[in-house]
Amino acid sequence: MNKTPQLIVALDVDSLGQVRELVEKLEDVVDIFKVGSQLFTACGPAAVRFIQARGKKVFLDLKYHDIPNTVASAVKSATGLGEAVERNADKEKNKEKVQSSLFMYTVHTCGGVEMMKAAVLAGTQVAENIGVKLPLAVGVTVLTSEQKQDNILPLVLERAALAKEAGLQGVVASCHEARHIREKFGPDFVIVTPGIRPAGADVQDQKRVATPKEAMESGSNFLVVGRPIVQAEDPHKAAQQILKELQSS
Ligand code: C5P
Repeated sequence: MNKTPQLIVALDVDSLGQVRELVEKLEDVVDIFKVGSQLFTACGPAAVRFIQARGKKVFLDLKYHDIPNTVASAVKSATGLGEAVERNADKEKNKEKVQSSLFMYTVHTCGGVEMMKAAVLAGTQVAENIGVKLPLAVGVTVLTSEQKQDNILPLVLERAALAKEAGLQGVVASCHEARHIREKFGPDFVIVTPGIRPAGADVQDQKRVATPKEAMESGSNFLVVGRPIVQAEDPHKAAQQILKELQSS
């Protein structure tokens, strides 16, 4: 049986007000929120810290792709993005402050092995220095909006192999390639799948889409959903429906 993947909601919005509204609406059903280039460009690290302060995990999806030194420096800053959050220390509900850490970030695999290795090394050093958990580093293989459908699989597998060689914990890939990645790279390799559309939903600019159930059956660990939840009339209900589909499979 497949392990139920975790839902990540892409907060593709422009203001902290919208972030607050969505996190408040979704926090009882969603544990991980994605901050991508739209939100980060508009609001910066404040968006990351706001989500962490609510006790939620952040997937920073800035898809780093630059020379190794620049990517390493960006990953250093990203790994240091943390917020002291309160959590219950024991059954008596005493609160303790713990330093939260970034949960996951992305680099582009087409940036090459040297660049990815520099990212992993930088993240590891900073996490050790400041005493936080190492964020998961995942490599973007081929965007799920890519039109060209021919020969995508060999390219995705080749890029996933480079990611593994560089020490990344996994990749971002569509449901269509996830099954092959799982077979080739084993159970511990993390697969993050965007392009999720509940049956009958508008695919928008995405091309290699899948339903939540299909993505789960293909072996993905994390499903990224943006517009079908964020732009829904009732985001909580939309998230719940996706979770229900996953749990009933
Ligand atoms: O709104 P939608 O569900 O299409 O959003 C998908 C999210 O996943 C977007 O934030 C997009 O940037 C991201 N993503 C993607 N394809 C990738 C990597 C990330 O769609 N390969």
